[in-house]
Amino acid sequence: MTSTPDIPDLYPPTVTPAARALPLYLSLTRFVRNPLRSLPRTVYEQPIVAYGRKRPLVAWVTGPELIEHLLIKRTDIFAKTRLDKRVLKPLIGTGLLTADGDHWRWQRKLASPLFRPNDALSYVPAMTTAASEQIARWRASGAAHIAPIDHDMTETTFAVIARTILAGIDEQQGADIQRTGHAYIKPIMWSVASALMLTPERWWYPGKQRMLRAAAENRAIVLRLLNKRRAAGIEGDDLVGRMLATRHPDTGAPMSDEELVDNLGTFLLAGHETTAKALTWTIYLLSRAPDWQQRVRDEVQSLTGGRAVTADDIAKLTLTQRVIKESMRLYPPVPAMTRVNTVATELGGIALPEPCLIVVPVFAVHRHRTMWEDPDKFDPDRFLPEREAKMLRTQFMPFGAGPRVCIGASFALVEATAVLATLLQSARFDWDGKHLPEPVSRVTLHPRGGMPVKVTML
Ligand code: HEM
Repeated sequence: MTSTPDIPDLYPPTVTPAARALPLYLSLTRFVRNPLRSLPRTVYEQPIVAYGRKRPLVAWVTGPELIEHLLIKRTDIFAKTRLDKRVLKPLIGTGLLTADGDHWRWQRKLASPLFRPNDALSYVPAMTTAASEQIARWRASGAAHIAPIDHDMTETTFAVIARTILAGIDEQQGADIQRTGHAYIKPIMWSVASALMLTPERWWYPGKQRMLRAAAENRAIVLRLLNKRRAAGIEGDDLVGRMLATRHPDTGAPMSDEELVDNLGTFLLAGHETTAKALTWTIYLLSRAPDWQQRVRDEVQSLTGGRAVTADDIAKLTLTQRVIKESMRLYPPVPAMTRVNTVATELGGIALPEPCLIVVPVFAVHRHRTMWEDPDKFDPDRFLPEREAKMLRTQFMPFGAGPRVCIGASFALVEATAVLATLLQSARFDWDGKHLPEPVSRVTLHPRGGMPVKVTML
């Protein structure tokens, strides 16, 4: 089947932005339902849009040069916000994602050697095994059935992280960690909204007690995991082994239990939810564009002839990777990042008082009217090498940019490629003809109503 540019398959669902910036109370209501809905249309058209009657309270930044200034060149004045910390602190404390200054530098240096591109390739067998186990679960459910793809991809990527950089988690612990992690994230937009309104931290908001209970349970499980590992006396060169063995460069002190739990929690959360969302949206897009799905399957088949995907195959699966990148453009797993200016400054001609919340809405950057031709269209050929080479580094940025760029980017790309290729060897994905999932920002990009897709075993 060949596609024409105007068939609906190639224009997957998006979010209709607000026609203009809304008054604060309306904006907050929309924000809690889905922050992407509170973005005014101009955010998709201009490089910077400020919100606030007399002085900017929020600035949405989408222009690549301005993002470069924020995230790469002037990190001395644009810092991570207290917002991220306040919202995520009960669950992941001040691990790598939320730490600052020397505390961040130490943790980043410690973890970096585990995330070199070649290390990611050494995990391909664990990744394809997790994908094969998912295929076996689908087969057990029948030759053709509707599967909850978002749930299934979360299971698969959790199995990968639990057997690679965080080896040693048993099935029950894994299930409990996932359950409590999801219970924490579900009501998170209320927590974000109250942090945005600068309410005192002790104030109530809907779901707060549930979140705190879930965080405490999650951390207790992670601590038990750590103690089990200590008792077993396993040194090992995985993340847990490295963190247990490390000493602070200045004080010589080992990591405290709290720091260890912060980091294990960080990697468990950041290391599977995001890649699960990348795979979920990719499978959805392929179910809407069957011709692309077949082309990817053909690429995998002609390279592997049906054998298991290996580390050597990853770089050769170029079409598969173009599809994954185009999926992360349309549906960035992390749809927004925030920063705050630590001094009064100017950005793109707008005076920013200190402090001003600066949001990089990656979702809007990736669909910006001035940067992309036919921005809402699914077209993996945008990522052909000669076309990708012309993109600015802050135009396509699913993994962020600058010193705080995602440490797991290579791991995630290798994983998404290995898992998708393995799944396509044995399964076909078809749209159910009804479900148009609204992309909802909940730290990661969730499909509203889940992601039911028909899976047929081949
Ligand atoms: C498709 C998958 C992924 C996406 C889209 C993604 C996206 C991101 C983004 C946008 C940031 C930067 C946030 C900011 O600057 O505010 C980030 C940071 C981070 N990511 Fe990922 N990520 C993915 C997979 C992973 C994986 C697999 C891991 C670990 C195994 C991981 C661990 C982290 C950590 C620890 C940070 C904080 C880094 C720092 O601040 O130094 N991520 N990620």
